[in-house]
Amino acid sequence: MKTVVVLTGAGISAESGIKTFRDDNGLWRNYRFEEVASPHAWAADPELVLEFYNLRRKQLLEVHPNPAHYALAKLQEFFDVKIVTQNVDDLHERAGSRNVLHLHGELRKARSTADDSLVTDIDGWVLNLGDMCSLGSQLRPHVVWFGEITENIVPAIALAEKADAFIIVGTSLRVYPAANLISYTPRGIPMFFVDPQAQPYPGFAALQIIKQTAGSGVPMLVDHLIEEYSTQKNAKNETPGPAP
Ligand code: APR
Repeated sequence: MKTVVVLTGAGISAESGIKTFRDDNGLWRNYRFEEVASPHAWAADPELVLEFYNLRRKQLLEVHPNPAHYALAKLQEFFDVKIVTQNVDDLHERAGSRNVLHLHGELRKARSTADDSLVTDIDGWVLNLGDMCSLGSQLRPHVVWFGEITENIVPAIALAEKADAFIIVGTSLRVYPAANLISYTPRGIPMFFVDPQAQPYPGFAALQIIKQTAGSGVPMLVDHLIEEYSTQKNAKNETPGPAP
């Protein structure tokens, strides 16, 4: 089964009602990320950091996956789909995607401040000062903050290196190392970029730009890939085998 690797960003969740970061009404228009999404912020004002993520987690519990998430889940019936997401929401999983790699963490999980590998689910939407891990240390959001290492880029690169097709959805490609993942894909594979502001990627002339929202562009692209898959499969079935 061919492997399709999909890099998603905040834009795929925009039509679910979750703010992006750098659009006109984006999160970084209302917050300075240095004050709510960095180790320095956590040291300076942990309650503000916890409140920032509590508000985002509360909203996440009130929204739902959109047609783009569901289309990628449907694609799993025909391809080995590997989602590599920059998003911390769980909308891909809630839409039915089974292989989701979070580069920047997961909003509905907490992490021990004593042991990074100690990760637990957050029940509900509130994580407060005084909520402790099993080692007795404060729990923090399980999110990769600015200045921290994106450890999951290593398995993400391994996925990209084996892609038979590569799709980018809803990202400004402003944050590294995620923005550079395309560089690890095999030369010559089909590649697509679905985003109203999608731009060509230097050195990748084959990247097909689809200047549409995720909610309309992704289902259309998925239908195209499925149709292509079915055509190729029928052609194989019709091709007579070697003479007996
Ligand atoms: N459909 C598709 N794309 C959309 C839509 C939509 N309906 N609405 C907006 N977009 C696109 C914008 O055109 C933009 O390219 O989504 C992208 C949002 O870009 P950013 O806000 O920069 O989000 P993202 O690229 O995911 O940011 C990467 O930056 O702040 C960090 O950790 C944070 O994971 C995040 C990372």
